[in-house]
Amino acid sequence: MKTLPLILCCILINSLLPTQSAVQNHQNPPPPTSSIIFTTLGRSSYAFDLFTLPTRHRTPPSPSSELRLTDGASVNFNGHFASPSPALLSLSPQPSPIQQPFSTPAAAEETEPEFHLVYVSERNGSCNIYYDAIAFDSQPQESSSRSRSAMEIAPRVQLPLIHGHDGLSLKDRPTVVGDKLVYVSTHEKSAEPRTSWAAVYSTDLKTGSTRRLTPIGIADFSPAVSPSGFLTAVASYGENGWNGEVEELSTDIYVFLTRDGSERVKIVEHGGWPSWVDDSTLFFHRKSEEDGWISVYKAILPNSGPISTDSVTVTRITPPGIHAFTPATSPGNTDFIAVATRRPTSSYRHIELFDLVNNEFTELTRFVSPQTHHLNPFLSPDSGRVGYHRCRGQSNSGDPHLLLESLHSPRPDVSLFRIDGSYPVFSPAGDRIAYVEMPGVYVVNRDGSNRRRVFPGMAFTTEWDPVRPGIVYTAAGPTFAPVSSEVDIISINVDHADVDNNVKKLTTNGINNAFPSLSPDGKWIVFRSGLSGQKNLYIMDAEKGEAGDGGLRKLTEGPWTDTMCKWSPDGEWIAFSSDRHDPGSGSFAIYLIHPNGTGLRKLIQSGAGGRCNHPYFSPDSKSIVFTTDYAGISAEPISNPHHYQPYGDIFTIKLDGSELTRWTQNSYEDGTPAWGQMYMEPSDVKWPNYGPGCSFEDCYFLDEIPTSGGRDRNLKTSGRPRC
Ligand SMILES: *[C@@H]1O[C@H](CO)[C@@H](O)[C@H](O)[C@H]1NC(C)=O
Ligand SMILES: *[C@@H]1O[C@H](CO)[C@@H](O)[C@H](O)[C@H]1NC(C)=O
Repeated sequence: MKTLPLILCCILINSLLPTQSAVQNHQNPPPPTSSIIFTTLGRSSYAFDLFTLPTRHRTPPSPSSELRLTDGASVNFNGHFASPSPALLSLSPQPSPIQQPFSTPAAAEETEPEFHLVYVSERNGSCNIYYDAIAFDSQPQESSSRSRSAMEIAPRVQLPLIHGHDGLSLKDRPTVVGDKLVYVSTHEKSAEPRTSWAAVYSTDLKTGSTRRLTPIGIADFSPAVSPSGFLTAVASYGENGWNGEVEELSTDIYVFLTRDGSERVKIVEHGGWPSWVDDSTLFFHRKSEEDGWISVYKAILPNSGPISTDSVTVTRITPPGIHAFTPATSPGNTDFIAVATRRPTSSYRHIELFDLVNNEFTELTRFVSPQTHHLNPFLSPDSGRVGYHRCRGQSNSGDPHLLLESLHSPRPDVSLFRIDGSYPVFSPAGDRIAYVEMPGVYVVNRDGSNRRRVFPGMAFTTEWDPVRPGIVYTAAGPTFAPVSSEVDIISINVDHADVDNNVKKLTTNGINNAFPSLSPDGKWIVFRSGLSGQKNLYIMDAEKGEAGDGGLRKLTEGPWTDTMCKWSPDGEWIAFSSDRHDPGSGSFAIYLIHPNGTGLRKLIQSGAGGRCNHPYFSPDSKSIVFTTDYAGISAEPISNPHHYQPYGDIFTIKLDGSELTRWTQNSYEDGTPAWGQMYMEPSDVKWPNYGPGCSFEDCYFLDEIPTSGGRDRNLKTSGRPRC
């Protein structure tokens, strides 16, 4: 296990993929059958690149002080400035562009710096760790008011660092120390439902051999390697596992030997995002239990004797009144750290330095891009530069905005796409997609052309009529609303010339009627309604609605929530999501029932308290695709933009309960999947005339201004939908 040759390591990684790779048969690849489409909240607007600013400024930094380090392609994030070790330099196909290491602090503004940047990039639908060696001419340009790009000057080397990589798993938080790349990966399935697959691995850059450092059965996040490379610290729940929390995590900090993961010991109760200054000092973040502000703390390990939570000294570093988090340190730097902050005076996340001697913040990015979120700082080994990621903004080399992003699929006969919209659904012929973009329902050709708004109001869920051409159903009204909210099922004739008269109202009671789904003969609609004071399932005539013969037929009834119903294409089953096993608990499982009300059974539940939602049948009616927290959480939510539930992944399962398969592995919320009966070639689809965008919201819990006492918080966010 210790020194697997590269080829063996690839085989090992492939053999660890979930069951579906066993199904692949290289002699007879199955013919393409169908495509799955899903939504990731905000993700199509993450035009992230890595940027850097000098840490030492005589005057506040200006836009011309900022350098863009990555190439403007795809989504680049979670960087690390490596010391140029021989193993790293030997990877370059050309000699290192510049021989001198990081420029000395005094000369930082005058000489050419070079960067050895290790980072995460999502390219061609999968996430890998890249290494860029970049030289940059830092002569300030006269009267330049824009940030400059390291792409403006050669030479540059860009390499993926992990080979034999499965194309599906999340790779995150890389650090290179000496010969070793240490990072998070989700390529090994966890044994238990609702537990994370995130674990820390190290890959030897010279041999390519990989070893797992996290014990089996445990998930670790946010690894940090000490300057000597000897120790690694992580945020982890240990053996307790994730309890479903979605904001600041109550993880603990553990330390182990980077060599082999041994001598693992908990050093701090409650903390995340560790960062070492030297082999016995690290900084981390934690929400203060006294005042509720997320703050940076320092932990000092004892010089001698056993290391435990009792022998480690913890001191708070940043004061209440400001959220300061994701600390970054540099070796031996006892003068300052870098942090991301959310000040009560700003709606944006900014990078600041915190002076450890005078206990003062120095703002940096607010002077450069005041209205942009900046995430996850990292310092150069000589402390002269701070890096971070933010949206690249309008830029010539930026990637086009995508309607559909093709992702690696675990099944060769089914392609997988992320759409820039929510509640997508393919038309029966597969040539069009209906989706929701608040506020409104849209229809677009699957090549991105002819995008039209077909309904202007608030709406959620879409369904395409299987029989009558051009009819789309939706629920008009607010989403995530209480049981009594006014939401009704409507049908929309999307090809009707008069977009103001294309709508037919099918329910009129207004009592939270949603998730319409049609029987394959087009005669009936199943939907959920709050009619009886709780959300249960009903069936009505698809054309006449509530007013049709028989009115509303109750399909399910009980003091719980049945919702997100979907009729199978063969007409045999209705799949839905329900908390009937534990009403009101927030735990949803997927159930099946025959349209005549018989045969009710639970298909899948995620652990005892988890969620399985938004079922959608495969075209052959033998499987469903759904979103779930079955694979737990993959990263600290605070390190990402806002996701209501920073944990959803797309899974499929057969109706007999077999072949549970994970389709997405990332730290975002993937949801509302739909399975279309036509196969789309797995390549990206650009928006033709729909410019690059970058707007996303920061974690809502960072908007909170804690009141003293911490617990009784004053929510600026109240009224916003929370999960
Ligand atoms: C990614 O896709 C582009 C075209 O879509 C292709 O030119 C490029 O070679 C691909 N890169 C990798 C690493 O597969
Ligand atoms: C209900 O529907 C199922 C599936 O079509 C069928 O097998 C079953 O016989 C039906 N039961 C009754 C009582 O009609």
